[in-house]
Amino acid sequence: MPFIVHLSDLHVGAINFKENLLLEAIKKSNDLSPDVVIVTGDTTENGYYLEFEQAVEYLDLIESPILVVPGNHDARHVGDECFEIFIKERYGSLKIRKNAIKVIGLDSSEPDLDYGKVGRSQQKWMEDELKRANKKNMYKIIALHHHIIPVPKTGRERNVLTDAGDILKSVIDGNAQLVLSGHKHVPHVWVLENTGFVTAGTVSSLKLRGKDISSFNTIDIKDYAIEIVLNFSDGKRRCLASYKTTC
Ligand SMILES: [Fe+2]
Ligand SMILES: [Fe+2]
Repeated sequence: MPFIVHLSDLHVGAINFKENLLLEAIKKSNDLSPDVVIVTGDTTENGYYLEFEQAVEYLDLIESPILVVPGNHDARHVGDECFEIFIKERYGSLKIRKNAIKVIGLDSSEPDLDYGKVGRSQQKWMEDELKRANKKNMYKIIALHHHIIPVPKTGRERNVLTDAGDILKSVIDGNAQLVLSGHKHVPHVWVLENTGFVTAGTVSSLKLRGKDISSFNTIDIKDYAIEIVLNFSDGKRRCLASYKTTC
C-alpha cells in the first residue's frame, strides 16, 4: 500500500530552527522507507542563498523520492531564484509506484509576500495534469504551501489562497484524492467530497502555538481508506484522521 511522509516548514536559518529535530525526522523517514517524501514549503526562513545551501544538505539525506514546493518564506529576498538553483522546479509533477500515483507540486508563493496564490496559468497546468492522470486511473496528490481551506486555531484568516475558490473547484472536479499543505504549522485534516485536505506542522522549528510541539505527518493509503498519523518530535504518535474513501 502507498505510504507517504509529509514534512513541512523546516525554516532552516531561523533562530528557532532545531537541527536535531530535522535530523531525527529524516532518520525516522528513512527507517519508514516511504514511496515519497513531500515537503510543503518554508524550507528556509528568509530565502537566502546560504540557507538554501544548508537546507539541501539536509534534504539530500532523504533516501526516498522527494518533491519539494516553495513557501512564502522561501520566496523572500529573491529566494525563488535560489529555490530553482538548489531544488530545481518551483512546480512540477512526480510519478511513483510504477506510475500508479501522481504527485502534483504547485508554487503558491509570491515574491516577498506572505499570502498565497496559484494563478491562472498554473491552475490550467494542474487541471491538465489531473486530466492526464485520470485517463490513466492514477491516484492524485496535490502539494502546495498555502492551505486552500482555513485551518482551525490560526486566528483571523488572512493567508488562505487568494484564488482558493477556483483552485478548490479544480481540485474537486479533477478528483484529486489528497491535497497536502503547510504554512500555519497546525496539523489538521478536512475531508470534502472525496478529497482530504491535510496540513502539517513544522517539522524542525519552534515556531509553535501554545504547547504544540514539532511534528510531521505520515499517510497510509489503503484500498478504501486513508490513515493520517501525526508524528511528534518527542516520539509520540497520534492518529490525525482515518476515513473511508471510494478508491
Ligand atoms: Fe512556516
Ligand atoms: Fe508559510
